[in-house]
Amino acid sequence: MNNDIKEILITEDEIINRCKELGKEITKDYQGKTPILIGLLKGSVPFLAELMKRIEINMEIDFMDVSSYSGTESTGDVRIDKDLSNSIVGDDVIVVEDIVDTGKTLQKVVGLLYSKGANSVRIVSLLDKPERRIVDLKADYIGFTIPDAFVVGFGLDFNQKYRNLPYVGILKEDCYKE
Ligand code: IMP
Ligand code: MG
Repeated sequence: MNNDIKEILITEDEIINRCKELGKEITKDYQGKTPILIGLLKGSVPFLAELMKRIEINMEIDFMDVSSYSGTESTGDVRIDKDLSNSIVGDDVIVVEDIVDTGKTLQKVVGLLYSKGANSVRIVSLLDKPERRIVDLKADYIGFTIPDAFVVGFGLDFNQKYRNLPYVGILKEDCYKE
């Protein structure tokens, strides 16, 4: 598995340290509130687990699984494969994502969460690939900005594999092509 990685972009220590910083920011920004962290399955799981430990106020977690598909070329749509367990009416929600790529998925998810009655919706993403953005979407909290390369690890997959790598790395080309 490790042999399939061309280059480690972000080490485990760097991710842990960044989660401490993001946790501090969220703690400060949400004083007096009880935010709900909503992890988008499955890629956000390791990041959510690391980040939540660094948030020092009351908070809750929930999960959602969505897949985006394009009905037409320009209008991406989103299908809910697993919905939230609890109501979020009036709640301050923080969506937790592994990576913002085109931004289409998150744009739809944010709209969806407001339509479910959320009071506020912010986004925290482990990674951001701004070069690939198609829609106008900015995450509120970003772990790391990376160049336009296909990465795996710390939740990110290729064909459902490599999510368990403790770091973020670039996959070797011959691993895509088989
Ligand atoms: P988008 O922002 O709607 O294009 O979709 C983002 C989703 O695409 C992420 O949640 C990932 O599941 C997936 N994705 C985008 N870039 C990568 C990558 O480099 N590695 C693994 N998955 C990726
Ligand atoms: Mg995803």
